[in-house]
Amino acid sequence: MDALTRRAFLHGTTRAAVGVSVVAWGCGSEAEQETEPPSPESDSLAARARARGLLYGAAVEADRLSSDGAFSAAVARECNILVPEVSMKWAALRPTASSYDFTRGDALAAIARSNGQRLRGHTLVWHQALPAWFATTVDAGNAERFLREHIASVAGHYAGQMHSWDVVNEAIDTSSGRADGLRDTPWLRFLGPRHLDLAFTTAATADPAALLTYNEYGLELTSSAARRQATLGLLTGLKDRGVPVHALGIQGHVGGAAWSQFDPVAFGDFVDRVVTLGLKVFITELDVRDDHLPGDQTQRDQGVAAIYKAYLETALARPQVTTVLTWGLSDKYTWLASQSPRGDKLPVRPLPLDNAMQRKPAWQAVAEAFQRAVARPTS
Ligand code: XIL
Repeated sequence: MDALTRRAFLHGTTRAAVGVSVVAWGCGSEAEQETEPPSPESDSLAARARARGLLYGAAVEADRLSSDGAFSAAVARECNILVPEVSMKWAALRPTASSYDFTRGDALAAIARSNGQRLRGHTLVWHQALPAWFATTVDAGNAERFLREHIASVAGHYAGQMHSWDVVNEAIDTSSGRADGLRDTPWLRFLGPRHLDLAFTTAATADPAALLTYNEYGLELTSSAARRQATLGLLTGLKDRGVPVHALGIQGHVGGAAWSQFDPVAFGDFVDRVVTLGLKVFITELDVRDDHLPGDQTQRDQGVAAIYKAYLETALARPQVTTVLTWGLSDKYTWLASQSPRGDKLPVRPLPLDNAMQRKPAWQAVAEAFQRAVARPTS
């Protein structure tokens, strides 16, 4: 692959790897679009996304793909981009202060490569998933060295393979009492807000081809106004200082009781303002909590699907939203089982596929949202 083709592959701006015909259903009237389409093997979220110049993928871990053939086949079929759910976080990569263990990350990179899928990195700077040694080793005196070394080593290790990196994750906490809304993290305590600039500039040097992303949650609701403002402030500051940042990652952990506060107008305006800064927007961790919905499976699946539909309708109306990842693909493996269990103890059903890798109404909702999306530019 020449450099231009490689860049286009990494960022999903080529349809070279298609090999799947565009599904023709749903191009007619609204009524036809609502009709449930056939779901032949050749149809997939990956194919639907690709047909619109979008990327679709999921957070997965290599060990589950190796141990579960049905899951592995579903991920290979449905996704054209993967992100590690755990294995590229500090706690996974850094057994000691002076060593790295890339085994699990490399295993996922190899799977993505053999499937012809792109890869995202997650995440270089986060206040969670820090190894136990961190608290007793890193301090104000050495934090800059640790931050630089970690990012140079990790982003350097995967250089040329990454579509994008979540360089900084969840730096906003508007209850911190700070005017800029920055979260009280070890990195902020040791280095101040300049750790953000440091992280992005170090990542840019280590992997010049990756799209460098700031990743944040809690941006969709009426009550998210302060978080949206702080996120815009953070991004505006980075851009004004000439820091290399290319995209905002919107996590999209949605649903639950708070969903009644979904504010599509404010959310859409926010995405538009981010775009005005010259940034791309990725939906990076979409899943739908179902603990507010009835236990009845049919009703629950319809309720979850309706949330996917509403959320993606707003997000995908903006052509700068180029990538959608769900945080998992099948209900068999979801962090929400422990994070947001249902009061009635029924297994949660937040993702496009069920436990048996069968497509749910949520799959149809995502597929139809892709189908309805305006085609993204291909270059
Ligand atoms: C979660 C994983 O899904 C869990 O398995 C892990 O125990 C904790 O982290 N926002 C993020 C992700 O950016 O890294 C989190 O992933 C979910 C919330």
